[in-house]
Amino acid sequence: MRTVPFPIHRKRRLRVSEPMRSLVRETHLEPSQFVLPLFACPGEGVRKEISSMPGNFQLSIDELVKECEATFSLGVGGVILFGIPDAKDDLASGAYDENGIVQRAVRAVKSAVPRLIVITDVCNCEYTSHGHCGKIVNGEVDNDATLGWLAAAAVSHARAGADIVAPSDMMDGRVAAIRHSLDEYGFANTPILAYAAKFASVFYGPFREAAESTPQFGDRRSYQMDPPNAREAMHEMELDLEEGADMLMVKPAMPYLDLIRMARDRFPVPIGAYQVSGEFSMIVAAARNGWLDLDRAMMESLTSIRRAGADIILTYFAKDAARVLA
Ligand code: PBG
Repeated sequence: MRTVPFPIHRKRRLRVSEPMRSLVRETHLEPSQFVLPLFACPGEGVRKEISSMPGNFQLSIDELVKECEATFSLGVGGVILFGIPDAKDDLASGAYDENGIVQRAVRAVKSAVPRLIVITDVCNCEYTSHGHCGKIVNGEVDNDATLGWLAAAAVSHARAGADIVAPSDMMDGRVAAIRHSLDEYGFANTPILAYAAKFASVFYGPFREAAESTPQFGDRRSYQMDPPNAREAMHEMELDLEEGADMLMVKPAMPYLDLIRMARDRFPVPIGAYQVSGEFSMIVAAARNGWLDLDRAMMESLTSIRRAGADIILTYFAKDAARVLA
């Protein structure tokens, strides 16, 4: 006679208590693998809350340094910096200005907290008057004309002391262009974390309020990826690796867990995942309505991203999650 699994197998035996569950737990979160996104703005003593992202602020550099000290003392691995410049123009000049907001912020953070990893987002949308990620030629974002801006921005970030540069613009060939310029200017050891599979997602909404980077016409669908495409995402990642990326990122995270897993299984480099502003704000909004427990939703969402295969998680929850893990 065929043996029936039950009552021989009782999966509940290993769920009986927290110590037992802890013994057999498969996925662990480490604060050292979190990266906190921060927004640098002009001025002094500025700490302006972003209304659609409670607990996140536009910070002047002095305040940003304090935030980085607090972040580091919680064991969080790094920060990724975005800039809100004084003025925007058609040439995104603030993006590659040696004295731009991000360049100054990097210098200040690296001198105050040298052991905190500082990543810079390399993009133009925060610096262009039209809010697009590249140069507009005949009403369209011109790919090749944008590469020089990106390479110049990456070099200026490296010169300021950035540990890692992370291009998020989705122009073709940007990783090669950035790698080439970094090497040429003496930054052969600065790694590139490519936002390789970055989708044209509705979940960036709150960020665009934070970074004041909403496109003034059209949208980003001619350069960011089409959400239904997984095979194409793998090709984007393959190309970025060939162009010299050291690490690859999937963004957003939770709606694209399948791609994080595919990337983890396919590529030998560290895989990052960006739990974006909309993912953060949905959870916080539900918690504020009393519909979800904030800490549990936060930890479960981060665990799912890690279980899917992410080595590095960029998340607005970095500090809070580090506190829970402490
Ligand atoms: C810049 C950039 C964006 C985000 C990261 N880098 C916005 C966009 O592409 O529109 C989004 C991050 C978030 O939503 O948290 N291109």
